[in-house]
Amino acid sequence: MKKTVNLTAILLLLATLLVACRSTAVSSQSSSESTEGKKTITVGFSQLGAESDWRSTNTESMLTALSEENGYTLIYKNGQQKQANQITALRMFIQQDVDYIVLAPETETGWDFVLQEAKDAGIPVIIVDRRVDVTDRSLYTCWVGSDFELEGQKMAAWIHDYTTMQNIAPEDIHIVHIQGTLGSTAQLGRTRGLTNAVREYGWDLLAQESGDFTEVRGKEVMAEFLRQYDNINIVYCENDNEAIGAIEAIEAAGKKVGSNIAAGEIMVVSFDGINEKAMDYLKEGKISCIAECNPLHGPRVQDLIEMIEAGETPAKYNYVNETLFSSVSEIKQVTVDGKSYEVTLVN
Ligand code: AHR
Repeated sequence: MKKTVNLTAILLLLATLLVACRSTAVSSQSSSESTEGKKTITVGFSQLGAESDWRSTNTESMLTALSEENGYTLIYKNGQQKQANQITALRMFIQQDVDYIVLAPETETGWDFVLQEAKDAGIPVIIVDRRVDVTDRSLYTCWVGSDFELEGQKMAAWIHDYTTMQNIAPEDIHIVHIQGTLGSTAQLGRTRGLTNAVREYGWDLLAQESGDFTEVRGKEVMAEFLRQYDNINIVYCENDNEAIGAIEAIEAAGKKVGSNIAAGEIMVVSFDGINEKAMDYLKEGKISCIAECNPLHGPRVQDLIEMIEAGETPAKYNYVNETLFSSVSEIKQVTVDGKSYEVTLVN
């Protein structure tokens, strides 16, 4: 009996260790030779956290593309929403002398020193998704991600076109704004897109507060806004998780979400388009418009690494094309700075 218990305990311990190894290092191998003797590329990937469905899909895309089958040894670190953790991870990658560092930064500032250390060690750095704001741009090789300000501009143009079509005067548009993580490129760009439009069109921006890109905070912030203001008719959420939380708060307050502002409905708009529940809400009319933010950067990063390996110089900034999703059939395109963008109708 005692022997069985001991064996079970050992097996359990081994299983736990295996799972722990996968969560911190998909492969701990840091040499450039795989078990079959084939050359592999060692990449240290620092992900900022796991705040949203977008982020989980993004992580999965990276892990799949930079897999052993594709010739990579990936050391993956989750920063748990803390820049300090990400900096520690980068220093660990430098010590391990990885071939490439891939960084998905939480916020833009504070990267100069550690990126200088990577440069001094001769390790190319690829920035993915959000950007870094450093004085010397040669500290990173290239960046791939979304044009977050354009996403915000397209959304503001959609709100403008829709409310104009509904004959709603700009001063009768009362917006509350649930922001993303403050200081992140996604927040800064989407916020600029809205606040410039508020200034241009004369909309009434009642309040702004961060919902940290999470459902829980989206709900809390919206509940607070509803306690403070009784004339809200548009909620601008900076991602789908916040929108789902905001809708819960609106419905719990006994109000209706939808695009019929004149009939007293509160119109919700958001960003991402990857969350299944949010896409269902879009079809049901609970969310009126979603600006796409594409998370599938794994193959894009893989292409960039392959270009560098082939001795080519990739473009410094690599933007992903994105659309607007809506179930409001009347708006088929929006115009930003003289360029028109198609709206993808979802129903
Ligand atoms: O940086 C991309 C943003 O981060 C996504 O919109 C959001 O959902 C995520 O957490």
